[in-house]
Amino acid sequence: MQLCFATNNAHKLAEIKALLGETFALKTLKEIGCEEELPETTDTIEGNSRQKAEYVWEHFGVDCFADDSGLEITALNGAPGVHSAYYGGSRDFQGNIARVLEELKSASDRSARFKTVITLVLQGKVYQFEGVITGQLLKEQRGSQGFGYDPIFVPDGHERTFAEMSIEEKGKISHRSRAFAQLVDFLKPYS
Ligand code: IMP
Repeated sequence: MQLCFATNNAHKLAEIKALLGETFALKTLKEIGCEEELPETTDTIEGNSRQKAEYVWEHFGVDCFADDSGLEITALNGAPGVHSAYYGGSRDFQGNIARVLEELKSASDRSARFKTVITLVLQGKVYQFEGVITGQLLKEQRGSQGFGYDPIFVPDGHERTFAEMSIEEKGKISHRSRAFAQLVDFLKPYS
């Protein structure tokens, strides 16, 4: 079965390829002839995930799935959410963290959650899968692994930040792996 993962992130592609096994001829965007930037113009994580997957289906006629993720902070009414990648003004992890820490300066509630939504378009039908991990945001950064907001996020039930965990450790509990696990389960009957 031919299936496209609508991402240009080689790391994400390798991760999901390992989970899906050989049954699916998982294609990259380039391999299906899609060289353009996918649209991400909605104001929700769900919306952007769906927009990317539907774009590929509509323009290339290939079954596909896309993911979109973000950090939702309780005290900021769910921000940065869909704006997580550019929250500090540019695509810069340190700038993003700086803005979050500044905005949480006087907040007593430092709870937050990472969320991933995967949208699968299979023969024109749309399915969505959501993975969430809740945690607390520190006042300073700890650790050097990972990316994004990892250095300030301590998942509930853990002592260390995501940036202090190995990729494997984070991969067992992360929002992304939880959403992907649901996708893999859903696709099993099609293999
Ligand atoms: P994407 O949709 O996976 O590209 O994620 C959008 C943005 O959300 C990233 O640029 C990060 O700022 C943030 N983000 C998503 N997942 C993670 C994560 O696992 N750790 C830290 N930050 C993340």
